[in-house]
Amino acid sequence: MSSSIPVFPPLKNDLLLRAARGEKTERAPVWVMRQAGRYLPEFRKVRELHEFFEVCRTPALATEITLQPIQRYSGLIDASIIFSDILVIPQALGMEVLMNPGPYFPEPLVTPEDVSKLRTVVDVEKELGYVFRAITQTRMELNGEVPLIGFCGAPWTLFAYMIEGGGSKTLQKAKTWLFKYPEESKALLRRIAVVCVDFLVGQVKAGAQLLQVFDSWAGELSPYDFEQFSYPTLKYISTNVRQRLAEEGLPSVPMTLFAKGANHALGFLAENAGYDVLGIDWVIDPAKARAMVGDKVALQGNMDPNLLYGGKHAIEEAVKRMSESFRAGEGGWIANLGHGITPGVDPEDLKWFFECVHKYSAIGGLA
Ligand code: CP3
Repeated sequence: MSSSIPVFPPLKNDLLLRAARGEKTERAPVWVMRQAGRYLPEFRKVRELHEFFEVCRTPALATEITLQPIQRYSGLIDASIIFSDILVIPQALGMEVLMNPGPYFPEPLVTPEDVSKLRTVVDVEKELGYVFRAITQTRMELNGEVPLIGFCGAPWTLFAYMIEGGGSKTLQKAKTWLFKYPEESKALLRRIAVVCVDFLVGQVKAGAQLLQVFDSWAGELSPYDFEQFSYPTLKYISTNVRQRLAEEGLPSVPMTLFAKGANHALGFLAENAGYDVLGIDWVIDPAKARAMVGDKVALQGNMDPNLLYGGKHAIEEAVKRMSESFRAGEGGWIANLGHGITPGVDPEDLKWFFECVHKYSAIGGLA
């Protein structure tokens, strides 16, 4: 099967893509997870009029919101990420998901029999075509200013939401499934992974220039259980997305894995998981992470998002330390937070974070 992507305006800033391919760039490209979010007054204004998933499903609104941080921080920010949510995959599988204000599933999966309520075959064009249309429109309107990132949730993190029915401190219900019904759990994890592959390939077809897989709850698993339950699906996704992109004549975009908290696995993931970039949280020192991964992958991260509440001096010192630690080794580095930005941050403090990254991540910038 062959397919072509629309013709988009030429890219003017390829720092992100070069760093993702492992190049030590003249300065680190920078963006932040949840950069189109509630800390921005212009975001809150749109959300006053439109419910969360309505925004996701309306390409014009998703485009408008995706572009908000790009416009506000023009010249300071090096990537856009499509406005959507990881929970659109459970919706595509047939589950109801509400956002009030955190995610809420009125009918979570309780026992393995409930899996029969899910769609066995998911037509991603039909169920998630609105994401593809938002990506195409955003990429057009970006006019080549920065690359556009597409994403999905990792099977383990999505599985956990589908069983817990929302956020959870212990993941007791999801873990009960893993340990009581390991085979049924693996089968469901694999079913989710199949949808992830179709969804990511569709995003590249629509115009995404880098793909990120969010395994936000990877760190809740022991190293053994991470390798048993999460890792095989992460590997399945990278292998099959790359194969499909090649078969369909689509661009071979870089892929990022953010397995939050699974720092124990960095060396193993760099060697085996098939991603170009590994995201790290703030619980590991960047130089230590680099020593674990060698020259196999680029790294992304990793300032504690709460440092954005610490004022300009604290932010500057943290960026300086982070830059020293990432720059101690060779290889690509994409500057980011170690997790998503939170609603109470002053947008001016985020601007300062970007400015500090420009200054201290530059080759020679620490001198
Ligand atoms: O990064 C971006 O700017 C792109 C958009 C994006 C959102 N969610 C928008 C969003 C992305 C990449 C996500 C990913 C996502 N969603 C993850 C993985 C990353 C992570 O944070 O671990 C997870 C676990 C979710 C599920 C989810 N969505 C939660 C737990 C919440 C509530 C948390 C909160 O911030 O209160 C959401 C809601 C959500 N997704 C918001 C945004 C901007 C805020 C909701 C709102 O606008 O009312």
